[in-house]
Amino acid sequence: MKTSPLSEGFGIEVTDIDLSAPLDDAAFGALRKAWFDSGVMVVRDQALTPDAQIAFARRFGDLAIHVMDQFLLPGHPEILVLSNRKRPDGTPEGFEDAGRYWHSDISYEERPALGSQLYAVEIPPEGGDTMFQDMVRAWETLPDDLKQRIEGRRALHSYTRNHKKNETQEGGRPAISAAQGARLTDVVHPIVRTVEDTGRKALYVNPGFTWAIEGMDEAEGRALLDALFAHSRDRAFRYVHKWRPGDLLCWDNRTVMHHATMYDPAYIRHMHRTTIRGPRPV
Ligand code: SIN
Repeated sequence: MKTSPLSEGFGIEVTDIDLSAPLDDAAFGALRKAWFDSGVMVVRDQALTPDAQIAFARRFGDLAIHVMDQFLLPGHPEILVLSNRKRPDGTPEGFEDAGRYWHSDISYEERPALGSQLYAVEIPPEGGDTMFQDMVRAWETLPDDLKQRIEGRRALHSYTRNHKKNETQEGGRPAISAAQGARLTDVVHPIVRTVEDTGRKALYVNPGFTWAIEGMDEAEGRALLDALFAHSRDRAFRYVHKWRPGDLLCWDNRTVMHHATMYDPAYIRHMHRTTIRGPRPV
């Protein structure tokens, strides 16, 4: 296995490894460390069946099953399909507009995602990039007055509020069914979390799912969140991933937030995502 930096700031590229073959504990440990030290890791040139992708993801922990269950891969519910391809009857094969806003995966759950692994099955010739912000740097560079204002505070995360906004903004997004809604309750998490593997601190709020600050007046909380979002979107700590066929892109949702970008809908973008559940943020 060979590694090299993906950008000046963060991220790592891994080549010369085949994740569809058994990986011994030493190689797995090295890969895990490389990923969590770097925030974002791309493993190039993979040919992964759904079973192989799931088996690799499971080595990191339990897998989350996404609430929008109509977009789970039939027979493999651990895989969320992100795609603009339609079935012969016109229904969507995948979640087309997923993640087109800054967010950290399933931060609206009690035990949000530790990591996500997105496999490029089919990609457009250009566009459809995935952008990342380093939330450790966001915390480290946050002005002192903002650091003091969020000290010890928690924020509320909600999937339903985000979904409603996207239903109206983009149109065509399927409504949350009663059964899906029953699985969704708003949760609170610390605004700054400590990452278990490294002991580093990271800002843990995102414009997609974070809506309010616990115990703070609504307008004041919103203004504070907006200031945190503006700071954490600084391009000085951004990496933009330009996909290649066969990429398995892995990101640590504790230390980065991400954003999918648009592409020409005349082309197909078809991806398989596994989501590894983490501990309750502290
Ligand atoms: C996501 O998992 O949030 C979507 C990422 C992407 O499609 O680039």
